[in-house]
Amino acid sequence: MADIRNNFVGIKSPNPFWLASAPPTDKAYNVERAFKAGWGGVVWKTLGEEGPPVVNVNGPRYGAIWGADRRLLGLNNIELITDRPLQINLQEMKMVKKNWPDRAIVASIMVPCEEEAWKAILPLVEETEVDGIELNFGCPHGMSERGMGAAVGQVPEYVAMVVRWCKQYSRMPVITKLTPNVTDVRRPARAAHEAGTDAVSLINTINSITGVDLDTCSPTPSIDGKGTHGGYCGPAVKPIAMNMVAEIARDAETRGLPISAIGGVTTWRDAAEFMMLGAGNVQVCTAVMTYGFKIVEEMISGLGNWMDEKGYATLDDFKGKAVPNVTDWQYLNLNYIAKAQIDQDACIKCGRCHIACEDTSHQAITSMLDGVRHFEVIEEECVACNLCIDVCPVENCITMVPLAAGSMDKRTGKVVSDQYANWTTHPNNPMAKQAAE
Ligand SMILES: Cc1cc2nc3c(=O)[nH]c(=O)nc-3n(C[C@H](O)[C@H](O)[C@H](O)COP(=O)(O)O)c2cc1C
Ligand code: SF4
Ligand code: SF4
Repeated sequence: MADIRNNFVGIKSPNPFWLASAPPTDKAYNVERAFKAGWGGVVWKTLGEEGPPVVNVNGPRYGAIWGADRRLLGLNNIELITDRPLQINLQEMKMVKKNWPDRAIVASIMVPCEEEAWKAILPLVEETEVDGIELNFGCPHGMSERGMGAAVGQVPEYVAMVVRWCKQYSRMPVITKLTPNVTDVRRPARAAHEAGTDAVSLINTINSITGVDLDTCSPTPSIDGKGTHGGYCGPAVKPIAMNMVAEIARDAETRGLPISAIGGVTTWRDAAEFMMLGAGNVQVCTAVMTYGFKIVEEMISGLGNWMDEKGYATLDDFKGKAVPNVTDWQYLNLNYIAKAQIDQDACIKCGRCHIACEDTSHQAITSMLDGVRHFEVIEEECVACNLCIDVCPVENCITMVPLAAGSMDKRTGKVVSDQYANWTTHPNNPMAKQAAE
């Protein structure tokens, strides 16, 4: 049986599934039940500085996007950091850590961007004997307007400054949680790395408005007729998070920096994908807010079974395996040629592939044969764009079949080459010569 134990910057947990800092990790009551269900670790809901706690709105704080089956695809929130007193959270963290020594507990922190504020809170957290700290540089609403959260995470110099204070005033491993609300996530990641962070975690939530009430003319969630942007998360953000994780994993300056991946993780497969892109573990929020703590059981068994099937004995056996295969567009092989193929037995003749290809792609799918509905790819026209596969409601009904080297591409009339050739050397590229040199 595969060994799924996780060691992330020296923080050990029985599996790589942690709960992200959010409502599921807001109090001992939740965290203890999460641990009972099997979660390997938690990042406690973000702590603020001592004093009067933050105040949340008293109306709806969530908005959502759903699929046609009403399955939640994206969640938006305008919640702030914990609204419970600091001392209560610290006491509970200490108690839970004592009760669950084999699980990871990381304290998420967000205090003003001032040395004294960080210097004051770090020893209080250290005293609880939790395993590490996560710096919340990601909250995009409410706190960022007060100069914290994303307001720090968007300025690499501030990120570096706070990381340095944390390394200076604490012995605990530092995980820097990054905001996706930037043009290039490598810049804050590099700054954190240079300042000595032990790891980065990403992504926090994305600026978003999930809807507008067309009767009241108010963005939703609406508080007394007004709305504001919130933070977007859930399955819809996973592709964005994966790209950002991959960017950091393959960047020359941050390669090898431990990454805790967050964003839309719902199943073991999502976790495996993030880990193949270089993540050391994953954190989960929306999936648990949607389906409850027990989903971790399937994550644990699913990951273990898949690793057994693949012959991976430990997480390190597949961690980062996809990173060398993430490249830039100009290095893709232009001599790789494929054609779509429709399995006539699986086809339910809905016609979606024909409409999509006919109206927006390359007019490469028939709709009729001898007066009967019939959908078949016209190889002479197909550019292998994949759109028909993306819109087909039957899984694996249409597949993309690569043409063997030496065969003829009926669209171009050219023989398929077995040589790798990319844009940097292509004759149509005016820069080709320089790039090749
Ligand atoms: C209601 C809610 C509250 C959140 N609060 C925090 C927080 O206090 N600190 C933090 O670092 N991230 C917070 N997050 C962000 C999550 O930790 C996580 O980064 C994000 O939701 C993406 O993961 P997911 O797609 O699994 O939800 C919150 C998210 C939600 C939905
Ligand atoms: S792959 Fe693209 S071009 Fe080819 S049949 Fe499908 S939609 Fe048309
Ligand atoms: S979309 Fe799929 S199921 Fe529908 S006609 Fe095309 S191949 Fe058949």
